[in-house]
Amino acid sequence: MIDAAAFDLDVVEEEIAVLPGAKTRMWTYGGDFPGPTIRRPVGERTLATFRNKLPAKAGELTVHLHGAHNTSADDGQPGGLTNNLRASMYCDISNRLTPAESGNDLLIEHGGQRTYTYDFVEGGQPERAAMHWYHDHRLDRTSRNVWRGLAGMWISDDALDASLPLPRGSRDIPLMICDRSFDRKNQLTNPFSDSAHAPNDGIVGNRILVNGAVLPHHRVHACRYRLRILNASQFRNYNLVFEGGVTVTQIGTEAGLMPKPLKRRRILIGAAERVDLIVDFSRAKHSNVVLKSVRRGNSPGGIGSRAYAGPLMQFRVGKPIPDSTSVPAALRPLPGWVESAPQSPSKTWTISIGKGFAPPWLINGRTFDPAYVEHRPKLGTVETWKLVNKTTATHLLHIHHTDWYLLSRNGKPPPPWEDCLKETFLMDPGETLLVAGRFSDYPGKFVIHCHMLDHEDHGLMSQFETVA
Ligand code: C2O
Ligand code: CU
Repeated sequence: MIDAAAFDLDVVEEEIAVLPGAKTRMWTYGGDFPGPTIRRPVGERTLATFRNKLPAKAGELTVHLHGAHNTSADDGQPGGLTNNLRASMYCDISNRLTPAESGNDLLIEHGGQRTYTYDFVEGGQPERAAMHWYHDHRLDRTSRNVWRGLAGMWISDDALDASLPLPRGSRDIPLMICDRSFDRKNQLTNPFSDSAHAPNDGIVGNRILVNGAVLPHHRVHACRYRLRILNASQFRNYNLVFEGGVTVTQIGTEAGLMPKPLKRRRILIGAAERVDLIVDFSRAKHSNVVLKSVRRGNSPGGIGSRAYAGPLMQFRVGKPIPDSTSVPAALRPLPGWVESAPQSPSKTWTISIGKGFAPPWLINGRTFDPAYVEHRPKLGTVETWKLVNKTTATHLLHIHHTDWYLLSRNGKPPPPWEDCLKETFLMDPGETLLVAGRFSDYPGKFVIHCHMLDHEDHGLMSQFETVA
C-alpha cells in the first residue's frame, strides 16, 4: 500500500507468482500484480511518477487514473500514431498530426517518465471519496497492456466517509477481479498476436484471478467487512453472489457512496464497474463463504451480455468478535445539481458497428481519432446526454472527467442500484440511457468509450472537449 503524497513507480517486466509452479512474466507497476494499492485523502495533491522501463517493444505508455477528475493532460490520453505504432488496425488516424494534436506529447516513451498531478478537487471542493483504479490507456494497445498486468487499485478517502461507522483497517478490503489465460509454462497467452485468430474482439481468460490469485481464500472474523470490488476484466461480466448465510448491503459504486444503502442478492458488475459492499459474516461463524459469479438470468443474449458462472474466492469465517460497526440509513446525498439537470438531452452518443470483414465499432458513425472533437460542453454547466446502443452486443460505456447521474434507462426511472452517481454504464443491445453530469475546472479533451478493452481498441471511443 502506498499513501505518500509523492511516489514513483517503475513500469517493469517482472516474474509474478500467479499459478502454482513457474512464475508468470508480466508487465507491472512497481513489480507487483495488481499494481500497489494507493490510498490518499481527497483534496490533497498527489504526484505520481511512472517510469517506462518495459522492453522497447512495448512502445509508449499512458496511465489513466480511472474515475478521478483530472486535467486533460493528466488524464492519460491515448495518443496517436508513432514509430512504434505506424498504423491503427481499426481507427482512421492521420500520421501527419503534430505531437500536441495527437496527444503524443503526453505519452511515456520507452526509457522516459511522466509525473501526473492528481488534486482530487472538483468545482473547488474535495472530490467524493471512492474506489478508483489506474491502468494503461494507450491507443490500440490498452487491452494488451492491461492483459499483461498494467492495472492497480486506488482508494480515496474523505471526511464524510471516515465519519460513518463502517468497517475500516484490515476489515476494508479492495478486490480486483480479472481473467487471464496461461500456457503450459504458466505464461500469459497472447491473444493479440497477428495470428490467424487475430483480431480478437472480446478477450476472455479461462482463469479468474482475485487480487492476482486463482480461487484465493481469506480469513475473516464473524463480523462486518467492507469489500470494494472492481471488475478489471477486459470483457467479462460477473453476477456476484455470496453463498452461505451472509447479508450483503451495497453502499457505493465507482462514484463513491450512494445516498442510501441497498440490500443485494445478485450484483451484476461489468468491465470497470465497482461496487462497495458491507458483508456481514456474523451468522456464518466457523464456516466457509464462497463468493461466486452466476449466470445472468435476464441476459438478453448476444456478445458481451452474459456473466461468468463459477466460484471466485472463499472467505474462511472464524469466531465472532465485538462489532461496533453499522450501516447508516443515510450515506452521501446526491449533489445539488442533479435536481436541476435538464430533462432533455443536449447531446446523443450512439454506438453502432461499421462494415467489412473485421468491422470497427463506431460512436456517432466514427472510430476514434485523437484530433477529432465530437462535442464541446461548457465548464460550469450541467448537461444531459442520451446514450444509445444500436448494436446487437452489450457495451460498458465509460465517460471520463466527471461522475454521472442516471436519469432514465429505456424511459424508466433507474433501478435502485443505479439511482446514484456512476461513471460506467452497462448497455444491453437496443438500450437508451439518459445521464446528467456537470463539467468543471479543467478545459480540454476527454474520452468517452466502451470499457470492454478490445472494443475501445477497435474504435469504440470518442472525445469531447470542455471549454471555458
Ligand atoms: Cu478505465 Cu478510459 O478508462
Ligand atoms: Cu463494447
